[in-house]
Amino acid sequence: MSYNIYFDKTDHAGIRLALDTYGYCVVSKVIGLDRVQQFKDEIDRLLDPDRSLPLASSKYHLAFAEECTAMWDMVDDADYMNLRYALNGDRNICLHRSAAILRTAGEPMGGWHSDHCGRVKGPKTHANDFLNVYTFESGAWFYLNGSHPDRSGIAVLENSHTEDWTPPDGFHLDEERRYIFRDDLGESKGSYSQLDIPGAVPVVSDPGDMILFSALTYHVNMATNERRYTCAAAFRPKSIKVDVPWALPESARNMINRLPARYLPFTEGYTGIDPNWKP
Ligand SMILES: [Fe+2]
Repeated sequence: MSYNIYFDKTDHAGIRLALDTYGYCVVSKVIGLDRVQQFKDEIDRLLDPDRSLPLASSKYHLAFAEECTAMWDMVDDADYMNLRYALNGDRNICLHRSAAILRTAGEPMGGWHSDHCGRVKGPKTHANDFLNVYTFESGAWFYLNGSHPDRSGIAVLENSHTEDWTPPDGFHLDEERRYIFRDDLGESKGSYSQLDIPGAVPVVSDPGDMILFSALTYHVNMATNERRYTCAAAFRPKSIKVDVPWALPESARNMINRLPARYLPFTEGYTGIDPNWKP
């Protein structure tokens, strides 16, 4: 790669330009190692309190900010919030969604995909069809072990963030543009799961860095060789009204009741998520 992807958290113009140009970047040293450990401890507490998660597996929390106080402490970090304001192009923002992922050693590489559900044909069938349809960044992830192809983390396809992007020769997308398949392997075994696709960039980052990628950017989780912790929060401008078919979950109401008043403006418009929602 012949361009810079690493930016200081106050270099909003550089970050914006990298996202618009390449579809991803790394914001260096967004949090310190104390905060990294705090997030890891919270992920252990919520997802694997008795350390029974088997090898070669993963577990998700799809509303991490509802349970993790440390995520809200970030709102008091001026550099972090100024970055979030800059990414949204708006200071009037609310929590959109949040997540944490715990992976154990032995989990193989995932399949290349985009998180964006805006090109889904037919009726909406999953909560993501309501939440992952906007143009703001899909990922603002803390890879708390860092990201490296030897240990795992994320790989992205550079320049795959544009509406008219087409896969390299020998590869194709499904009609909803969610998954990348290699032509000669067919689609029955899932999307392609190797790093040798042209344009693939295994992202290298440190534990306190934040990895950003655009709404459409294709990406993949690399093979995991250690116990790995990841978490993220997405914010959106409150001017984007999200109409979801589920009621605000009890866990979200509990969070709002528990939060100090200064955080409440960031919950206005928050929908929570019902991962089991079905039409
Ligand atoms: Fe993803």
